[in-house]
Amino acid sequence: MSLFRLDASIKIEGSASREIADVVEEHWVSHHPGDDVVRRHIGTEPLPSDAWANAVSAGMTPEADRTDAQRAAVALAAQLADELLEADAVLLAVPLYNFGVSQHIKAWFDLVITDPRGKDAPLLTGKPVVLATVRGGAYGAGTPREGWDHSTAYLRRILEDVWGADLTVVEREFTLVGVNPALDEFTDLAKQLHQEALATAEEAGKALAEKVELPQAS
Ligand SMILES: Cc1cc2nc3c(=O)[nH]c(=O)nc-3n(C[C@H](O)[C@H](O)[C@H](O)COP(=O)(O)O)c2cc1C
Repeated sequence: MSLFRLDASIKIEGSASREIADVVEEHWVSHHPGDDVVRRHIGTEPLPSDAWANAVSAGMTPEADRTDAQRAAVALAAQLADELLEADAVLLAVPLYNFGVSQHIKAWFDLVITDPRGKDAPLLTGKPVVLATVRGGAYGAGTPREGWDHSTAYLRRILEDVWGADLTVVEREFTLVGVNPALDEFTDLAKQLHQEALATAEEAGKALAEKVELPQAS
């Protein structure tokens, strides 16, 4: 059994998305002791920015005529798709940046989508996936910036509708309270949202671990 974990935060220390993912991972590891956790740190070790264009153009080029860069991009896309296909469960930790997804996570999705296996069948059909997503501000109904979060719906669209994942989303808002003084009036609410996110992460981690059955003892 293996868990594939992808982190998209550009921070390591003090990362709110990593904190949620750590809770989920702890449940996975305690339920599946000794099993692999395969990691990709897309925010701190980004994919090459030209890989996607090279993989797309490779798809329009006969194999024998491909450049070295095209071959490398196709191989990288296959490796990323393998990481998903070989995992029994998937955990993604993705912050909101500039009202959308970062170039890093977009490059990862774009590259995986070039892998031809995704055209035969959705890559994550029925596979349990937890998405931990965090936002510095708040974008709920009735807030001044309602509708400005252009990340979460995109992530859901690809994971659920394009890749067919069995998706659970754990969200936390107002992570910048305590960092940005303009948000000080939301201190109590932010604490509450933090605690709620951790509690939801506990539930999601437990469910993720239990959805993947341990091998039966013979
Ligand atoms: C460059 C940058 C852009 C950001 N843009 C937004 C934004 O548009 N909306 C928002 O709510 N928070 C924004 N944030 C705040 C992050 O979403 C927040 O700090 C989050 O906790 C980051 O995830 P992490 O804690 O896992 O690193 C931004 C942060 C950075 C560094």
